[in-house]
Amino acid sequence: MKKVYNFNAGPAALPKEVLEKAQHEFLNYRGTGLSVMELSHRSKHYEAIQEKAMQLLRALMRIPEDYEILFMQGGASLQFTTIPSNFLTGDKIANYCLTGSWSEKALKEASRVGRTHIASSSKINNYTFIPENLTLSDKPAYVHLTSNNTIFGTQWQSFPTLPQSVPLIADMSSDILSKQIELEKFSLIYAGAQKNLGPSGVTVVIIKKDLLDTCPEPLPTMLNYQTYATNKSLYNTPPTYSIYMLSLVLEWVENQGGIKEIEKRNTEKANRLYHTIDSSHGFYNGPSQTNSRSKMNVVFTLPTEKLTLSFLKQADEKGFVGLAGHRLIGGCRASIYNAVSLADCEELASFMEKFRTDSI
Ligand SMILES: Cc1ncc(COP(=O)(O)O)c(C=O)c1O
Repeated sequence: MKKVYNFNAGPAALPKEVLEKAQHEFLNYRGTGLSVMELSHRSKHYEAIQEKAMQLLRALMRIPEDYEILFMQGGASLQFTTIPSNFLTGDKIANYCLTGSWSEKALKEASRVGRTHIASSSKINNYTFIPENLTLSDKPAYVHLTSNNTIFGTQWQSFPTLPQSVPLIADMSSDILSKQIELEKFSLIYAGAQKNLGPSGVTVVIIKKDLLDTCPEPLPTMLNYQTYATNKSLYNTPPTYSIYMLSLVLEWVENQGGIKEIEKRNTEKANRLYHTIDSSHGFYNGPSQTNSRSKMNVVFTLPTEKLTLSFLKQADEKGFVGLAGHRLIGGCRASIYNAVSLADCEELASFMEKFRTDSI
């Protein structure tokens, strides 16, 4: 089989070792004679899988005991609704940092639930940087930010410190587990799994217990975070296979040396590609400002549409998959999540350098 370099934005590359282990266990999970997909979610075998995924995540991210880990469904997009449904109550105002399309979508859903305020925005600059100074409204219910902007290729480099009474909430769908973070700054973190955590289907939520205590009783059962917390995320049938895959990915991260080692590799990978862009004498152009660059999604353009199409065609022929930019902004994007190796990034960088010299 031809070597494929997977730079998809999500669903994205998974570690080969994880896929091999899943393949090995596919038909007969640890002597049960059943596939994980066939296990009852009430069986001890499945409960052990889910428990292990939660324990590994807690250990890897150093999640303190005053936070709950929840496994939910509906993707990050349903969190856009669930968050304001739980926390935008009374006369409070939800504050949003607008740094790209996903934060716009999160804001749109909150404004269906209650009053909202834009605490910061780089929209007029085409979302090319992260504005780190916030202006909060009166009575803020919470502040919501998108830690990594998958489409525009920008990433928060450090997170704001808010007054203690204001919960900080982050959509970390595209950079969770990619670097060490000061978890204590956040009251709620959420992420769809399909970039750094596993396949799609499960949404991970990490929520501080004091915020959880404020969820209002009358909410529909499946929209209330309490339902998941009090039932160990087993109130109804969870996405069992996705959670199994998540546990394998977490085990893989642990075997690699944990988040510290992963972060080091991610920095090297991103540096290699940004160096290729910066040393291309303007042939490749990275629209995001240097101090806001994403280490997960490297966005770049070529001088003309014709060259872009030719680049993508040749890349495809060489086995580089998923390099077209998001349909909203065009250009190119290399998504280099945890499972993409430095060697793969080096191959891409060499291809980019060769394409440039062949084209000038
Ligand atoms: C930062 C971010 N937030 C939210 C989403 C939407 O996630 P989902 O498809 O899980 O609803 C994405 C998807 O790419 C994303 O990158």
